[in-house]
This record gives sequence, structure tokens and C-alpha cells, in this order.
Amino acid sequence: MKGIVLAGGLGTRLHPLTKITNKHLLPVYNKPMIYYPIEKMVGAGIRDILIVTGGKNAGDFLRLLGNGKEFGLDHINYTYQEGEGGIAAALTLAEFFADGKPVCVILGDNIFEQSISGYLENFKKQGSGARIVLKEVPDPQRFGVPEIRGDRIVRIVEKPRNPPSGYAVTGIYMYDAEVFEFIKTLKPSDRGELEITDVNNRYIEKGRMRFDIMQGWWTDAGTFESLHRASNLVRRNLEGECNPDGRPSFISE
Ligand code: DAU
Repeated sequence: MKGIVLAGGLGTRLHPLTKITNKHLLPVYNKPMIYYPIEKMVGAGIRDILIVTGGKNAGDFLRLLGNGKEFGLDHINYTYQEGEGGIAAALTLAEFFADGKPVCVILGDNIFEQSISGYLENFKKQGSGARIVLKEVPDPQRFGVPEIRGDRIVRIVEKPRNPPSGYAVTGIYMYDAEVFEFIKTLKPSDRGELEITDVNNRYIEKGRMRFDIMQGWWTDAGTFESLHRASNLVRRNLEGECNPDGRPSFISE
């Protein structure tokens, strides 16, 4: 499967840290943020990876990642998103790269503990459609939130005031080639972006969306608080301060 890391956007929530650099080049404990999603893909056997970036510092990605040798890759592909049109707008730039094949997409600011291998396996077994990964969180209103009935998601609401469940839709998505057709039909949301949640809702309407629940810890890193949390989680993981179930011991239920 091909992998796409979305690292565009302006990172305005992290201003002034992002005034002269791209959010995904900021440190998360001992590595630049962008390393984490790339390492997860490589760890699950994905060798053909596209980085979608943007902004004024896109050249720095090339200087940092080069041809991917540090990750054991033969090459890395890059493309450039003009402006901040949203996650689905960034993804549409990968249509040529995907070339009709299924893709795994990871948001460049998602940092998490465990491998994605199991999700990729499940998606392969599923055969077509889309697959997302959910994580129970204390603050679902910050994320896309699924309404779940039985073993099905009936809809996803983006940043709801009254979340229909306690789960966040994490930034790990698997799609068949139809994703690019769905994106072409989208209209910008109230925040002026093409929303990945609208893409996911198309798959749900067609009964072609499945999901996994994530084990281990997960966080985004797009706000001061979550960036700080991501660094702590990585540090404590490296130091082995985890419970037997993989949860860092300082995180309460
Ligand atoms: O982290 C998971 C959440 O990510 C999901 O639960 C939400 O459904 C999804 O909309 C998204 O929410 P955020 O508002 O946190 O997304 P944000 O604008 O921070 O963008 C996340 C990443 O997506 C960012 O690190 C890079 C990429 N991105 C984003 C935008 C807006 C792009 O590549 N281009 C863009 O134009």
C-alpha cells in the first residue's frame, strides 16, 4: 500500500512557534514531528511515501528528509499545497501518486504509540471502501467524533459542541481510489476548508466505512498543550514508564 503524510497547513494555533517554520518540523521530544508518522508507515512495511507540505518552509522538508535513507527508504516523494484549503484539499494532491491504488493517510501532527500494521491488515481483508481508527479521549469536542450504533458508525460530526460519543476520529485513514472522486464533490465548510470528515461521511452514507479502535496512547500535536503532551508521551515511552497495557502510568482513565 502507498502512504501519504499530510504536512501542509499554516499551524496558526502554534504561533509564534510556526512563524518561521512549518509545524511538522517542530520537535516532539527528540525528533521532528514529521518523523513519527513516517516511522509508523515504514514500520508497517510501507515503502512508497508521499509528503504533502506547504507554506514558506517547504524546502526544509527536503533538507531534513532527503531521499529517506535515514528511514531505510530508497526515495521519498514530495508535493506542495498552496494555501490552507483543508485536509481533503491536501489529499487531492496525492491522486496522481495513488494511481488508482488504495492509500494509507496519516496526519503529520498525529503521534501515537502502537503500530498501524493491524489496521492495514484489516483494510486489506475489507478489500475496498474506507477504514478509520477511533480513540477514546477526554475531550472529543476538539476532533471529528463518530456516532456509533452497534458495530456501525452512522455519521461523524466535526468538532461538535455535544459530542455523540467519547471517541475521536484519529488522523489515520485508509481509502480506496474512490476517495478522490468524493473529494471532487465537496464544498468548503464554514471554516473555508475541504473537510476530511465530509469525505468520511460519504463513505458512511454508502455503507463502505469500517473502523478499528486504537490501543495504546494517541495525541495530536497542533496546540501548545497537545504538543507538550506529545513530547511527554514519547519521553515516558522511551523511558518505559508504561503500564502493562501500554498506557503511560501518568495518564488516568
Ligand atoms: O487529529 C485528528 C483530527 O484532525 C480529526 O479528529 C479531525 O476530524 C480532523 O479534521 C483534524 O482536525 P484538526 O482541526 O486538528 O486538523 P488540523 O487543521 O490541525 O490539521 C491536521 C493536519 O492535517 C496538519 O497537521 C497537516 C494537515 N493539513 C491540514 C490542513 C488544514 C494539511 O496538510 N493541509 C491543510 O490545509
